Amino acid sequence: MGRAIGIDLGTTFSCIACLEGSQPQIIPNKEGLSTTPSVVSFTSSGEILVGNLALRQAVTNPENTIYAVKRLIGKKFNSEEIKNAQKKMTYQIGEAPNGDVVVVVESKKISPQEISAMILSYLKESAEEYYGEKIEDAIVTVPAHFDDTQRQATKDAARIAGLNVLRVINEPTAASLSHGLIDRKNVKLAIYDMGGGTFDITVLEVYDGVFNVLATNGNTYLGGEDFDNRILDWLLDEFKKENNIDLSQDKFALQRIKEASEKAKRELSFSMETEINLPFVSSEPGGGAKHLRKKLTRDKLEELTTDLVKESLPYVEQALKDAKLEPKDIGETILVGGQAQMPLIGKVIAEFFGKEPVKSPNPDEAVAAGAAIQSGIIMGEMKDIVLLDVTPLSLGIEAEHGSFVKIIERNTTIPTKKTIPFTTVEHNQGTVRIHVLQGEREVAIENRSLGMFDLVGIEPAPAGLPQIDVTFEIDADGITKVSALDTGTRKEQKIEVNPSSGLGEEEIEKIIKEAEKYEHADRKRIQAEQARGEIRKMIDSLESLFYRDEEKVSFLHQEDIKKIINKKGEILETDDLEKLEVSRKEIKKLFDLISTVSESRDSFTPEEGGDE
Ligand SMILES: Nc1ncnc2c1ncn2[C@@H]1O[C@H](COP(=O)(O)OP(=O)(O)OP(=O)(O)O)[C@@H](O)[C@H]1O
Ligand SMILES: [Mg+2]
Repeated sequence: MGRAIGIDLGTTFSCIACLEGSQPQIIPNKEGLSTTPSVVSFTSSGEILVGNLALRQAVTNPENTIYAVKRLIGKKFNSEEIKNAQKKMTYQIGEAPNGDVVVVVESKKISPQEISAMILSYLKESAEEYYGEKIEDAIVTVPAHFDDTQRQATKDAARIAGLNVLRVINEPTAASLSHGLIDRKNVKLAIYDMGGGTFDITVLEVYDGVFNVLATNGNTYLGGEDFDNRILDWLLDEFKKENNIDLSQDKFALQRIKEASEKAKRELSFSMETEINLPFVSSEPGGGAKHLRKKLTRDKLEELTTDLVKESLPYVEQALKDAKLEPKDIGETILVGGQAQMPLIGKVIAEFFGKEPVKSPNPDEAVAAGAAIQSGIIMGEMKDIVLLDVTPLSLGIEAEHGSFVKIIERNTTIPTKKTIPFTTVEHNQGTVRIHVLQGEREVAIENRSLGMFDLVGIEPAPAGLPQIDVTFEIDADGITKVSALDTGTRKEQKIEVNPSSGLGEEEIEKIIKEAEKYEHADRKRIQAEQARGEIRKMIDSLESLFYRDEEKVSFLHQEDIKKIINKKGEILETDDLEKLEVSRKEIKKLFDLISTVSESRDSFTPEEGGDE
């Protein structure tokens, strides 16, 4: 097995790391930077840009620049969260036939998995360029509170990107691994992780290299983006009050205000006051150009967002309760994630736990570094660490009258499995349907449906006689598997699985094939562009040298060179690599000839037609 990389696929920023010896190293991206914006942009010339290049397009091409796709992955179009998020989106989303949300670019529907795969491909390529070797294996992190569907969708994204996922690991757990706790004797910790899109609280104990997660809780829809949006809303309101202009439908203005809001928010973590200044934010017909200039103080920001910070506390309380601990039992609270750097969060958490929290020294890199450590644990390179994580949500089935019966409770250490006997209720019943869901609500349909599992081909028998043992399993990635055994015949009972969400096997295969096709086409396009660049440069030099030393070149060659100069546009028009290569060779010959002439301007005697 080659190198495995740890990938923190964040809502706003992603980061990769790899174990070198026993130390995780952050791998720079293609631009030499340690983090990559999780942004993909589709340009009008058909290019797909990822990371900083894509981010730079956000203001000029807001409709085709896709950000925060992690908030969409594994979600239904009709869910409340998506409906709310849509109001602030500068790009368009739609619904897949199975109700999943999709991104719409130039009327083409693209699954969030594919967009994530584009980011993952970029990260994979960055690591490959850095190490000069193929990278196939990866540990991918997800918010601890991601459900089965979101985890599966993230895994599918990695597969589309050509990565073999060794393990899906929870972000706060990964952060704890990289926090230098390995030698601790016995400490109980709370990891408060507020990133760009998600909030997680994880309570764990660490003793002699064992990282034992006791409980986790959170909200995959609470994060930095929500704080940005509060500032954005405030600015829109103020602008409307002052100018009577509503900018909320102006995608260009919206994108600019959004960026400025985020920047102001960050600044207010270090200073008490900042100014938001956006010249020409509105150019309403007839209204003239209007500028947005506004002072924002830390106090005002706190007033706008206190409720968001408070919203995180019940999750913290619940996680402690599930871990059977009180705030005073926690030895150390660690703040992870960019948004947790906000001073108000530090203050609220200090009050809650009765002691100052510790800030992660590298909040941008801690999760990826932890994922790299996890690769070392899996590959046996780091034998002194044992990691025991939990499932964030209860797994169960729909029972009579639509009630929800839990089979595996939340915060059970994973991997885990439980077997339940099933039987038929009618004579000669050939199928039994099991509706599997995840969540904590008592009414089954209020929980997240994972799918229908039909036990099929049951031998004809009187009602209640068949005995089928169904095993529900949650693997180390937090992903559910269901299998069944006919206890009468001891044969494996067939199951037909109808997942409620996600991409089907066929769809994934199709996307991978298409990506391969594009990869080939893309590579050709890049090669063509390189060849054209070289040819363009040669023709330009040829032209300047020729007009200087025309008289030194034989008549025949003069004609050839003039022809090339005049046909420059035509030569450079093609994408055909073979044609470009023929032109390149021909031009190179003439270029070499004229360079020699120019170098020996005084001594060179042209040889009539003799140097072909
Ligand atoms: N100094 C700061 N003060 C306040 N917020 C900050 C600061 N630095 C970064 N942020 C915010 O943190 C968020 C990004 O954090 P981070 O990189 O941890 O998230 P992510 O990994 O992209 O998202 P997630 O983990 O939720 O998927 C952004 O919303 C950003 O505005
Ligand atoms: Mg993160």
